[in-house]
Amino acid sequence: MHFENGGAEMRIPRHLAIIMDGNGRWAEQRGLPRILGHHHGVETAKVIIEESRRLGLSYLTLYAFSSENWGRPEEEVDSLMSLLNTFLERELETLLTHRIRLNVIGAIHRLPEAVQHTLIGTMERTANNRDMVLTLALSYGARDEILGAVKAIAGEVAVGRLGLDAVDEECFSGFLQTAGMPDPDFLIRTSGEIRISNFLLWQLAYAEIYFTPVLWPDFSPTHLHEAFTEFSRRQRRYGLTADQCQDDVTD
Ligand code: IPE
Ligand code: IPE
Ligand code: MG
Repeated sequence: MHFENGGAEMRIPRHLAIIMDGNGRWAEQRGLPRILGHHHGVETAKVIIEESRRLGLSYLTLYAFSSENWGRPEEEVDSLMSLLNTFLERELETLLTHRIRLNVIGAIHRLPEAVQHTLIGTMERTANNRDMVLTLALSYGARDEILGAVKAIAGEVAVGRLGLDAVDEECFSGFLQTAGMPDPDFLIRTSGEIRISNFLLWQLAYAEIYFTPVLWPDFSPTHLHEAFTEFSRRQRRYGLTADQCQDDVTD
């Protein structure tokens, strides 16, 4: 899908993944407790979810809490969990209005029971929505996910339900928590950090990557449009030469 962005062409990715980083620094720069940064970050998430839907994205995946984030001070983890619960309860109407289906990836069993309960309820209520899939990566770590897939495949092979020859890339993808979704074609990370931090290591193999110094609570629809304009300028070559790609292989 294409849009005009102040004259510049804007191609919209099919699957956008975002590492929403910088809430803590945003708060610290203002002399505020880190959790207030997370509160503002949640408002940004709402705005970006709505804008993504408006622009016609099919899949939006947000990295909200990593498996490593469990190591943060207990007070911050607890506040994040209750913030997540409130957000899900508050935004159910938004998801229903915009026909967005909620999906979750990560070690969900590690989340507090109340959060698991709200997540399951929200997924059930939005299960028939077809206009966009919003995936929250919660308690998520890509290595964990890959190990889970390896173990599941090994189990299937051991009992003879799966032959080793059948284990190709497509089969492997089907054992990941993102099974059935196309790989992200675009990854945005805010806050100036230039790393992946254990996010979707398999699925990002050929994603275009965009790093911006903007801290997540400051990230606006205008910043999103700028990122898409940059995405539109990228030539996705998938290992081929530029000449071979003249006919545009971006879609
Ligand atoms: C991202 O913001 C949100 C989570 C990881 C939960 P941070 O909390 O990592 O913010 P910084 O990186 O400390 O600024
Ligand atoms: C990555 O951010 C995880 C999320 C945004 C949820 P972190 O702030 O936890 O990552 P590092 O520590 O900078 O790699
Ligand atoms: Mg961070």
